[in-house]
Amino acid sequence: MQYLSALLPRITRLQALVIGLAVTPLLLGGAGVIAVLLFLMASGGTVTGAPEQPIAFDHSVHAGEAAIPCQFCHRGVGTEAAATIPSVQQCMFCHGVVATDRPQIQLLQAHWETNTPVDWTRVHRVPDHVRFVHAPHIQAGLDCATCHGDVASMSEVRQVRSLAMGDCQGCHRENSASLDCATCHK
Ligand code: HEC
Ligand code: HEC
Ligand code: HEC
Ligand code: HEC
Ligand code: HEC
Repeated sequence: MQYLSALLPRITRLQALVIGLAVTPLLLGGAGVIAVLLFLMASGGTVTGAPEQPIAFDHSVHAGEAAIPCQFCHRGVGTEAAATIPSVQQCMFCHGVVATDRPQIQLLQAHWETNTPVDWTRVHRVPDHVRFVHAPHIQAGLDCATCHGDVASMSEVRQVRSLAMGDCQGCHRENSASLDCATCHK
């Protein structure tokens, strides 16, 4: 069930409905539960729509028009496992003075004043039993866009590449990177 809950947020309501309709006859046959579980396992990394975010942060404004480098905000990406999401303090570096009259920035300022982090909704998430580390990928010269698409043109970040096991393994094979189970599984 742990796997199931890790995978469920990747599936949109529409997809769930379509799956539901498709497997109803199977459910009646009794084999449905297994079929659903198999489907969910096979579809880990299902490409999803953009989730709603607590503040309307727009990459096309920041990374696009303002051309702020990805690594200015995602500081861990070249050296750590996690890319990291910038803190409110990092946003305030600019928004202490930029666009302070806008409602969305006032929302940000309220977080700053009350010292509460913004609870961003994750877009990409590998299951808990998988180990993904950014650093070796960036050090191997892979561009963010290889896995995340053209984020600088997105108003809302959405997942554009499956990043499921077959996808990871396919690229590892092409690049002679490790295919050991233990490389990616804890
Ligand atoms: C390096 C400077 C910089 C940083 C850091 C920065 N922003 Fe911005 N932000 C801008 C600029 C420039 C604009 C465009 C302002 C305009 O439209 O005049 C903008 C616009 C916005 C807007 C749109 C405001 C509106 O309603 O028009 C939001 C929301 C926003 N930023 C949120 C954030 C958040 C959240 C963070 C931290 C994760 C952040 N920004 C970090 C420079 C920055
Ligand atoms: C001004 C700061 C800022 C800049 C510059 C920026 N990002 Fe982000 N990024 C954020 C914030 C805040 C979030 C969380 C909200 C969201 O998902 O939109 C985020 C989320 C993401 C996510 C989704 C993370 C998840 O939950 O899976 C990806 C992927 C991403 N950024 C890639 C990039 C890339 C690639 C660039 C450069 C082209 C970039 N970002 C530039 C602030 C920034
Ligand atoms: C080889 C594919 C790949 C590349 C290249 C890549 N990412 Fe990711 N990224 C992922 C995967 C997979 C996840 C989900 C990781 C998880 O669930 O722990 C992720 C998650 C993220 C997140 C979510 C939060 C976090 O801290 O991990 C951000 C932000 C992000 N990536 C930004 C970037 C940026 C910026 C670049 C380029 C400098 C980049 N990524 C390059 C595959 C990649
Ligand atoms: C677009 C190509 C690509 C994709 C997609 C990709 N990888 Fe990689 N991965 C690489 C390359 C290249 C390396 C670096 C190999 C090296 O340095 O020898 C690497 C290295 C790694 C490492 C470090 C290996 C070590 O020896 O320390 C891990 C862990 C890893 N990848 C996990 C994943 C996982 C999990 C996914 C899917 C969620 C994934 N990768 C997707 C290309 C990719
Ligand atoms: C390059 C990275 C990578 C390698 C190597 C790898 N896996 Fe995976 N594996 C993943 C990712 C990412 C997932 C989660 C997404 C999915 O289910 O496809 C996964 C999922 C799985 C699952 C499904 C668990 C579930 O959530 O339902 C099993 C079982 C599994 N891997 C076994 C293996 C075995 C056995 C090996 C060695 C032969 C292996 N993996 C090698 C990346 C990898």
